[in-house]
Amino acid sequence: MSQAQNAQTKLEELRQSALAKMQGAASSKDLYEVKVEFLGKNGFLTEIMKEMASLPKEEKPLFGKLVNEVKQALEQSYQQAELKLKAHEIEEKMANEEMDLTLPAVGGGNQGSEHPVAKVTDEIVRIMSRLGYSLRQGPWIEKDFYNFEALNIPANHPARDMQDTFFIDPTHVLRTHTSPIQIHSMESERPPLRILGTGAVFRCDSDISHLPHFHQIEGMCVDRHVSMADLKGTVSFFVREFFGAGLKTRFRPSFFPFTEPSAEIDCTCPICKGKGCSLCKSSGWIEIGGCGLINPKVFGFTGVQYPEWQGFAFGFGIERMAIIKYGVEDIRLFVENNLKFNQQFE
Ligand code: PHE
Repeated sequence: MSQAQNAQTKLEELRQSALAKMQGAASSKDLYEVKVEFLGKNGFLTEIMKEMASLPKEEKPLFGKLVNEVKQALEQSYQQAELKLKAHEIEEKMANEEMDLTLPAVGGGNQGSEHPVAKVTDEIVRIMSRLGYSLRQGPWIEKDFYNFEALNIPANHPARDMQDTFFIDPTHVLRTHTSPIQIHSMESERPPLRILGTGAVFRCDSDISHLPHFHQIEGMCVDRHVSMADLKGTVSFFVREFFGAGLKTRFRPSFFPFTEPSAEIDCTCPICKGKGCSLCKSSGWIEIGGCGLINPKVFGFTGVQYPEWQGFAFGFGIERMAIIKYGVEDIRLFVENNLKFNQQFE
């Protein structure tokens, strides 16, 4: 057999085997692999073209033509087979896949929303800024001095039991309240002061109305001639702006080591407007926080001169404010990060 005949036979074998493989391809992916195998850059057809170099000159044109014909034929069969397989694949997909029209749209489904704690914080800051208050923050890990000592809660004092403390080491704690921010502010700024301290606080406590990690916001005013009446006026203004016009505020005598006198703050239950409901346990009143005039002993720890300067402070739990305002039934919802829960506060 001449070299040319030999090459032609090879070409014919190639064509037959490529066609058979294309017919037999079970999927468009398999079919594509066959195409690469025969028609690809390093495929069999390219391989056989290289043999042309060693053919006698006069036989080259004919052989080249044959190779081109085979190439075209294979390309055509590939396209036909591909059409058929793809159509079949789409049909199969349609038959087997169900479309769930209730699924959120691509791109729109996971849109986040502001967390209610952030939203309530912003709202309180906005209201109090109208009275000249501005925001301060402090560290989560506090020296015993800032969380207790300087707030007139000495070591071994029973008042420490009011707050179940997480200790980092014997002299550092996860802050149990935002009141240490009062001390930082009095140390680093000069009165008159109107500040809001806010952020996360930590207590070893967990049930339907307590989280070990929650948030507080508190206001502090240090100025000349500050009285209980100023405190009451400030808190009443806040209650009406935050919970609704017409709601009343009342103070009940209480105790905090850092304020003297101290009071618990109640307001008309915003849910039932004082008529009595499950949230206010039928009393018509709901407790929202604590307050008092700054204890002169606290000034003593900071260098602020009393009685030239006097002050008051009041503090709220942010999750509790959201619970009361929006009627949330379980405080643990605030830490579940369920988008549907968060979106209700938009
Ligand atoms: N720090 C107090 C607490 O966490 C709340 C409070 C703040 C009371 C400011 C009085 C004044 O219980």
